[in-house]
Amino acid sequence: MIIVLLGPPGAGKGTQADLLAERLGIPKIATGDVLRAAVRDGTKRGKEAKLFMDRGDLVPDSVILGILQDVMTSPATKKGAILDGAVRTVPQAEGLGTMLSDIGKKVDKVLLFDVNDDELIKRLSKRTVCQGCQTPYMGRDSGSKCEKCGGTLVRRKDDEPEAIRNRLRVYRKQTEPVIDWYGDNKVKVLKINADAPVDQVTARALKALKK
Ligand code: AP5
Repeated sequence: MIIVLLGPPGAGKGTQADLLAERLGIPKIATGDVLRAAVRDGTKRGKEAKLFMDRGDLVPDSVILGILQDVMTSPATKKGAILDGAVRTVPQAEGLGTMLSDIGKKVDKVLLFDVNDDELIKRLSKRTVCQGCQTPYMGRDSGSKCEKCGGTLVRRKDDEPEAIRNRLRVYRKQTEPVIDWYGDNKVKVLKINADAPVDQVTARALKALKK
């Protein structure tokens, strides 16, 4: 099964993607994580993406479609994938659709995580992430250790107030149209109220996927 996760920054896509991947036995592919690893490793792709990411803009569609081409044709995604934040513009949705149809696959479901702006800003301004495995945390200081891999927790550059505001603007303008695009193309969009404790949101998502 191929599931696309949509939702504004801070909606909990990364948190839920890890939990759903474990429950459903398919890998999570997060373009944000792939790009941050490329930035850290100083690759050509990372250098190209860094400026866009730091100010909260989207990286070019061609970069994302290149990543998706690599991962969706890899044996790791043979049984499916949870695509976390991997589709943020209509051209990306179209490109992914064409790419999947060429290999006899399709997007099966879209989960849309819905959270109001005040809660999103609150979550992002308190978030730290593991520099190693990228697990997000709430209420843990920078410099403390990751529970999963022992890596160091840091603040993301795009979690500064100006970049957060820009990411929300970019989401409304460039990513929200993707919701209608999937609806128009007969892919079911399952809207989840994600303003609830993490385990409740996971339960809602799993229930919606069963319908
Ligand atoms: P990316 O890393 O994907 O950032 P994002 O979409 O802005 O999403 P976030 O990671 O900020 O939030 P999230 O929804 O995953 O929430 P999380 O689970 O962390 O992308 C970064 C950048 O890469 C983009 O800005 C862009 O430049 C580039 N990029 C990536 N993909 C791209 C694409 N396809 N096209 C173009 N550019 C692309 O949760 C947030 C916080 O809340 C955490 O602290 C968490 O612990 C907490 N939390 C989670 N759930 C709950 C809950 N239910 N209750 C309370 N707290 C919660």
